[in-house]
Amino acid sequence: MSKRIVILTGAGISAESGLGTFRDKDGLWTRYDLRDVATPEGFAKNPKFVLEFYAARRGNSANANPNSAHHALAKLEAEYSGEILVVTQNIDNLHERAGSQSLLHMHGIMNGDLCNNCGHRQQTTHTLTIETLCPACTTKGSMRPDVVWFGEMPYHMERIEEALAACDVFVSIGTSGEVYPAAGFVAMAREIGAHTVELNLEPSSGDHMFAEKHYGPASEVVPAWVTGVLA
Ligand code: APR
Repeated sequence: MSKRIVILTGAGISAESGLGTFRDKDGLWTRYDLRDVATPEGFAKNPKFVLEFYAARRGNSANANPNSAHHALAKLEAEYSGEILVVTQNIDNLHERAGSQSLLHMHGIMNGDLCNNCGHRQQTTHTLTIETLCPACTTKGSMRPDVVWFGEMPYHMERIEEALAACDVFVSIGTSGEVYPAAGFVAMAREIGAHTVELNLEPSSGDHMFAEKHYGPASEVVPAWVTGVLA
């Protein structure tokens, strides 16, 4: 019987593509204080530093390629008879580049710009600086990356909650289960009796919430899990 599968991904799925995670031993938050670069207060205090931080992450991401875990999820979407929705916490574009289309970026995208003043959005074409003018409201220095910072509301929450309320299977891949609301999705899936799967390098904070668990590098455990679903 075809099932409705919601798949949450985190930084761990992009780790083998060369993009760092946040809370592993050499993770991003061990080198930066997230309050300085991932909060509205940090942007207000030092916008130049924040814009340079995301410009550097965009640079890293441009050199990265999807790995076999991203490709396996795209294959699942293309070949599975049921419904697949990938909800990613990641702001890189590796899922898209692997071919995933049923995809929501709940923490935004690093290749998007957003005006803090008027809400204008655009594809990033030039590195933002504090001199950048918003093309819509012409405010100087209000353009920021279109990413969701701590204290801000994640995107697409209504669609995500609807999908979780109707899913048969919830899979969590490459996330530590430390940040809400994403960390609460497994409880919502269990609530409606969905089967829950954790695919991660090591047990996450919420590992006890999952009925099925496979640990190892995403490039190995995700393709193996997809092969099982498609069998
Ligand atoms: N394969 C699978 N999992 C991996 C791999 C790998 N090769 N490498 C690391 N992991 C796992 C780690 O074990 C950890 O559980 O990926 C997870 C990464 O956790 P975090 O660094 O906390 O990243 P994430 O869960 O995505 O963070 C959530 O926090 O800072 C915010 O907005 C940011 O979206 C991010 C959110």
